[in-house]
Amino acid sequence: MKKTANKTVLITGVSSGIGRETALYLAKKGFRVFGTVRKDTANLDGVELVKLDVTDDASVSEAVRAITAKAGPIGGLVNNAGYLLNGAIEETSLAEAREQFETNFFGVLRTVNAVLPGMREQGHGRIVNLSSVLGFMPAPYAGLYVATKHAIEGYTETLDHEVRHFGVRAVLVQPDFTRTSIDHNGRTVAQTVSAYAAQKARAMEFVQQSMKIGTDPRAVAAAIHAALTANSPRLRYPVGSGGKLSLLRRFVPAGMFASSIRKQFRMDETRTA
Ligand SMILES: NC(=O)c1ccc[n+]([C@@H]2O[C@H](COP(=O)([O-])OP(=O)(O)OC[C@H]3O[C@@H](n4cnc5c(N)ncnc54)[C@H](OP(=O)(O)O)[C@@H]3O)[C@@H](O)[C@H]2O)c1
Repeated sequence: MKKTANKTVLITGVSSGIGRETALYLAKKGFRVFGTVRKDTANLDGVELVKLDVTDDASVSEAVRAITAKAGPIGGLVNNAGYLLNGAIEETSLAEAREQFETNFFGVLRTVNAVLPGMREQGHGRIVNLSSVLGFMPAPYAGLYVATKHAIEGYTETLDHEVRHFGVRAVLVQPDFTRTSIDHNGRTVAQTVSAYAAQKARAMEFVQQSMKIGTDPRAVAAAIHAALTANSPRLRYPVGSGGKLSLLRRFVPAGMFASSIRKQFRMDETRTA
């Protein structure tokens, strides 16, 4: 969003974590912030709360209609709402996989489609989609989550080409492990396959430990602010070790990269269970 542009911003999922920090950060920077929640939530300083569930067409269109009626067209959209589905790919039912995509991927499409006509009409707008380092890397036992973030990458890069001539830009923010409650707030597959149990437990322990010492969500908020306000935005805004990981992904030989993933997620340690 150009500095002179409309400073009304809509952020999905401000009840916790990155969304909450971003809403507070942008409000302090003088944005008019509309933050979405699904349940009643304590007030956030300077943030106007709106009920919205990204999986529900009517909820999204009604929220966008109400915001536009109150504040005019939306200048910036931050698609932050999402959750983590834990489990082996083989353990994941199609229904669980669809639900994961319904929130993390189709939730973004639904919200973008509701906001884009107003942005096109006013001749500017900035769409910031929360991807992840898992938008370009694998993560064993979070395969469907990884698939949604890879989908967001291709979708956003393509969208950016289609909307650029309307003055609208679509960009990606790629945090690494960030200190939020995404693991506690997430879901776990209902059916398990015991053959995965020991390896999955080790991999999930690595994830939980990495989350505890992860990036401060305020660093992600600052990256989102940069993505919203840059006159000539980059396509990707990595956060924390995201920049280094993306370079490694591109330049380290594939076999070496795979070995380092297997080592980090403790895939080849001796079975203990
Ligand atoms: N934490 C990380 O390590 C990390 C790393 C890379 C990327 N990210 C991405 O950053 C974003 C925020 O994650 P977080 O770590 O801040 O997790 P979080 O604390 O669990 O926050 C997730 C937010 O999304 C909302 N949400 C979930 N489903 C929704 C739905 N159907 N409709 C509307 N809102 C919904 C939640 O609201 P409720 O309270 O209503 O559930 C909550 O406000 C996600 O897209 C995540 O994939 C996180």
